[in-house]
Amino acid sequence: MTRRRQVYEGKAKVLFEGPEPGTLVQYFKDDATAFNNKKKGTITGKGVLNNRISEYLMTRLGEVGIPTHFVRRLNMREQLIKEVEIIPLEVVVRNVAAGSLATRLGVAEGTMLPRSIVEFYYKNDELGDPLVSEEHITCFGWANPQEIDELMHLALRINDFLSGLFLGIGIRLVDFKLEFGRWWQNDEMRIILADEISPDSARLWDLKTNEKMDKDRFRRDLGNVAEAYQEVARRLGILPEG
Ligand code: C5P
Repeated sequence: MTRRRQVYEGKAKVLFEGPEPGTLVQYFKDDATAFNNKKKGTITGKGVLNNRISEYLMTRLGEVGIPTHFVRRLNMREQLIKEVEIIPLEVVVRNVAAGSLATRLGVAEGTMLPRSIVEFYYKNDELGDPLVSEEHITCFGWANPQEIDELMHLALRINDFLSGLFLGIGIRLVDFKLEFGRWWQNDEMRIILADEISPDSARLWDLKTNEKMDKDRFRRDLGNVAEAYQEVARRLGILPEG
């Protein structure tokens, strides 16, 4: 395999220069981190599974008209993506109270929310990705009001579609994190879905047993992490090759 120039290394992924201008290669690692890098580990086979799961979900979303950065999967751990200017926000959608929402507001984990909530976090490792309001976002120029509306609209459409998709395979979509980027085509800017959607970035609970099938198994030392990711892939009907 030809060695590509690395343009970015994150906690779970590496980005390399793509074969054509305006493209990148996204490589999925087995590394896992939690609590803003305080906990580190490896989940054998996670990268392969997340590459397939994210490919599958982004493809399905593309089919229903959500613009995404996904172009095609290249191999077990790599996918070709469009190069975007990442908007420095983590957009979190919640359907059930869990994680930081449960802790911050003292709501019992598992409480169904009467309506879905969209939250914005400022993407900044040093600051621990703080929760921010629309006021902060516009004040510091991370996105303009029109872009914020578009992010909310896309996040809720993605939530509707993915909630239904997971329900169909006996999984509750508790919450998930999205990242978006600005993408230019013929001088026109579009906001498109970027990064990944996988059990690393979503909370997925078995509908019947409430068993956790996501990164909380790693965060909370529940064991069988890779097996849980594998089960998500199996239910989606996509198992990794080889
Ligand atoms: O920790 P918290 O409850 O705020 O996380 C909400 C959702 O966003 C979870 O599904 C979590 O996996 C995801 N998330 C993420 N990356 C972060 C923070 C949260 O994927 N840096």
